[in-house]
Parts: sequence; structure tokens; C-alpha cells
Amino acid sequence: MAVAIIVKVDPVTPEKDKIRVAAEAIRAGKLVAFPTETVYGLGADAMNGEASRKIFEAKGRPADNPLIVHVADFEQLFQVAKDISDEVYKVVRTVWPGPVTFVLKKAPGVPKEVTANLDTVAVRMPAHPVALELIRQSETPIAAPSANLAGRPSPTTAEHVIEDLGDKVDVIIDGGPTFFGVESTIINVAVKPPVLLRPGPFTVEELRNFFPDLIVPEFAEGKEEAAIALAPGMKYRHYAPQKRMIVVENREAFRKAVETLSKSRKLIVLCSKEECENVKGENVTEIVLGSETNLYEIARNLFDSFRKVDKTEGDLAVIHSFPERGIGLAIMNRIRKASGFQIARSLEEAMRLAGD
Ligand code: TXA
Ligand code: MG
Repeated sequence: MAVAIIVKVDPVTPEKDKIRVAAEAIRAGKLVAFPTETVYGLGADAMNGEASRKIFEAKGRPADNPLIVHVADFEQLFQVAKDISDEVYKVVRTVWPGPVTFVLKKAPGVPKEVTANLDTVAVRMPAHPVALELIRQSETPIAAPSANLAGRPSPTTAEHVIEDLGDKVDVIIDGGPTFFGVESTIINVAVKPPVLLRPGPFTVEELRNFFPDLIVPEFAEGKEEAAIALAPGMKYRHYAPQKRMIVVENREAFRKAVETLSKSRKLIVLCSKEECENVKGENVTEIVLGSETNLYEIARNLFDSFRKVDKTEGDLAVIHSFPERGIGLAIMNRIRKASGFQIARSLEEAMRLAGD
């Protein structure tokens, strides 16, 4: 395919005529990358199986990993999902638009490509003027995973999308950097009690206000691969730089690991602004993640930092952990997965993982 048409829009008040170009592409069964408040999505008409199949092809995504359907109003919700209890519907009305995806019973008419043959469908209403305007003008729900090549960090800017998919999509809407920088919270409400499938910007603490009996499985922390993949995407390596990255989950050990590992190699170090103060050494290249006093800033910079790892000199990266409160749980889930579960708690473990 030729190079994508890139349309720059105002993220707050998107120009309607510019969005029209993209909406026409969606209606014609083509692929459009667009910003949401979390990350950029790679969209196609969710009611068109053939169009949705192209998403898998462009990303190199396994066909058994279902997509999220994005809606702009509640009519579209009922077009794709059924059997929504009053209790769940009340919550949906309260938290949408926003970074929460609900797994619900699938309505007939949603193509099997979108849901990977499951009888459930993941749905969300994004809180982003560009995404909402695109869905409205397309007059159809839009199926969209994150607009990265499978396995790569999710894109938080149009440049990231161009890097991964510039020659594989028809239109890229550039609405600037996304707000949260990590993907939506996913919660399965097709079962009782509801189960958290992926932590995100809408925190567990907030969710518990609505679902006091919410189940938060261990894998939500990203500590282990789900034995039986509840969210099918969970079993695949995710968000990862191509280079090796080790997480050191103890600050004392982290500092020692940086010092020791950089003696024998060029080391890439991902650290908060505060922690970077403790990092020195000629062989060290720092990638600053943001201030520890604002975990939202860390989340916003995380995937871009993972991409920077691959562009920085050195074969090995180390990163420290963050508190697992609020959006911190989503941050740690992404960091642990991006490391391929190379997790150390001591200097010795870090050395062993580094092969020293
Ligand atoms: O913030 C987001 O959610 C972004 C933006 C574009 O909306 N989208 C996104 O999509 O992160 P993706 O494909 O990268 O992640 C979707 C996840 C996958 O892990 C998939 O397995 C899960 O949602 N999923 C989709 N349908 C499901 C279903 N019926 N049951 C369980 N998990 C499902
Ligand atoms: Mg993704």
C-alpha cells in the first residue's frame, strides 16, 4: 500500500471537514489511525468483518486476539452488546466517555473477526473529541486495537504510528500526544463478580466504588502470564522494546545494579527525574520518565521511553519500579510485561538476569 494520508487536526475542536476524509475511508472499509485519550487506535468499521480483518494483517496481530469496539453513543452500545444488567448499565452511563472498556455479551451482527469468535465483545466510549467525531461521522462503531505493530509499545503520538504502520494504513489523524499514555482499563462484566482484565487510567480504587466485589487477579499486576488467558491478548509479549530490559524492584538494588552493570557495558537506564539524580557514570545513558510525584506524567512518557530504548546506544536497559497505587498499577503491569518478566529484587538477581 502507498504511504498514508496524514491529517493534522485540533485535538480539542477537530475540524469537521478534515475528519470527513477519515470517516469516508472508514465507510469504504479502509483503515484509519486516530487519537484517543489513552493511546492511538487503528480503526476499521466494526460491523464489517472484511475491514476488521485488515487490522490484524496490518499489525501482524494473531487472529485469536479480539479488538475493542469504540462507540460514540448508547445506541451504538446496544448495536454491539446485549443482556446488559441495570446495575452495569448505570455504571457505564456514569464512567463513559472515558478510559474504561467493558467486556459484555456480544450482540448478533458483530462480525466474528472483531471478537475472535468469542460470545463477548469489548466496548468503550473514548473521551477524545477526535475519536468521537470520527465515529459519529462514520456512522458506525469502530473496532480498534492500539495502532502499533504487534508486540511493540502502544503509540502515544502520530509519529509512533507512522514509525510502525505508515505504509499499512490509509489515513492517520494526527491529534498530538495522547493524554493518559497507557491503554484503557478493561473489566469483564459478563461474569459475576466482575473481573479486572487490564489495569489502566481508571483505577482499581475508583472501580471498587462501583463494584465492591471486583476481582483483581494476580496477573493484573503483570507478574505472571495468565495460565488460561482471560483477555486473550494477555498471553502475548507486549509493549516491549526490542532490547533486553530488566526491572529492579528495590531502589537500593537498582542503584547498585546501575553501578555494577555499567562497569562492563553501555547501559540504558530508565528512571524518574528524582531517581536519575542518583545515577551517574560515563557508560550510562538516562531516559527520564518524569517526576515521581506525578505518576500520570510517568504513564504519559512510558511507551515513548520504551521506544527510545531501541534508539539509544547499548544492548541492555534497566528500569526501577513504582508504587502500585492508582495508575501505578497500570504502569507496573506495562513495565513488567515489557521486560518479558525479567524482574530482579536484588543486585545478585539483576546480575544473573544480565548474564554477568
Ligand atoms: O485504550 C485502549 O483500550 C486502546 C484504544 C485504542 O482504545 N485500545 C487497545 O486495544 O489497547 P488492544 O487491542 O491493544 O487491547 C485490547 C485488549 C486485548 O488484550 C484483548 O485481548 C482484549 O482487549 N479483549 C478484546 N475483546 C475481549 C473480550 N471479548 N474478552 C476479553 N478480552 C478482550
Ligand atoms: Mg495493544
